[in-house]
Amino acid sequence: MPTIAVTRKIPEAGLRPLREAGDLRLWPDDLPPDTEQLADLLRGCDGALTMVTDRIDAALLDAAPSLRVVSTFAVGYDNIDVPAATARGIAVCNTPGVLTESTADAAFSLLLAAARRIPEGIDYVRNGEWRAWSPMVLLGHDIHGATLGIIGMGRIGQAVARRARGFGMRILYHNRRRDRDAERELGATYAPLDELLGEADFVTLHVALNAETRHLIGARELGLMRREAILINAARGPVVDTDALVTALRAGTIAGAALDVTDPEPLPTAHPLVGLPNAIVVPHTASSTIATRDKMATMAAQNLLAVLNGESPPSIVNPAVLERDQGSRASGMNERAGA
Ligand code: GLV
Repeated sequence: MPTIAVTRKIPEAGLRPLREAGDLRLWPDDLPPDTEQLADLLRGCDGALTMVTDRIDAALLDAAPSLRVVSTFAVGYDNIDVPAATARGIAVCNTPGVLTESTADAAFSLLLAAARRIPEGIDYVRNGEWRAWSPMVLLGHDIHGATLGIIGMGRIGQAVARRARGFGMRILYHNRRRDRDAERELGATYAPLDELLGEADFVTLHVALNAETRHLIGARELGLMRREAILINAARGPVVDTDALVTALRAGTIAGAALDVTDPEPLPTAHPLVGLPNAIVVPHTASSTIATRDKMATMAAQNLLAVLNGESPPSIVNPAVLERDQGSRASGMNERAGA
């Protein structure tokens, strides 16, 4: 029986098959294990189902030499040193697809909330400031007819574009590669980054975090945005230079920001972004619906068990590991056949 670590409590839909397949070591706390606790948890395990909060680096992998698969409960895997895993023959799996629509719903909710100043409206009522209807209170920004700039036109970016179409928005996008199918199907227009930033009323980020996208939006890029523009980030916090964003929000050189992800995470309550009236911050919950978290748990468990069973998982980040495995199994068979 394999030993399988799960680094946080996840929906039963994912835990059940793992319990049936092996010895399950479930991290019991609500808060994530620290580096040492994570190494202790993974030591001697064949598979690990991990979270975005777990840093999976070479040192950790060396502390868990029997590990064959790291299956992350997420689509993003910037917290995992994939080359280090590949070098050790460890498969890295993720959960794309199942969270696309929920994440796009969340990004669009942030856009709507920021544009129409919904959190400020809630505070206004709660604080007893609503003393009469007013022609000038909480004036926001129209969504219909506005220009949306989508940076990163992958699955989630395209799902956001579909929602924007329903709201009658004009859609610009920027991506590593032009996507003519997306242009045709979504009515989106490709734009160089600077042009998109200069034109969009709403800029929404849907890129993976890597060396190229870290601080993709810094002081220079924020400076190109319109004064009325709102920045939405449901990708990864470090895609935006936080200090530059605080400066822009304070100076009013952009109108607002709506963030599902921040740098750092979690954001301390004393952080300026928490107190700024033109910033909305929610705690990295874009895929957090009952149905989607069930699907993520199911897929992460399927990924993990498939690798342990020598089958091909629904989604693997470093398929070369499996090809190598199959290659060495085939050559082992040949050796045996030849012997
Ligand atoms: C969550 O942030 C994910 O990458 O799925």
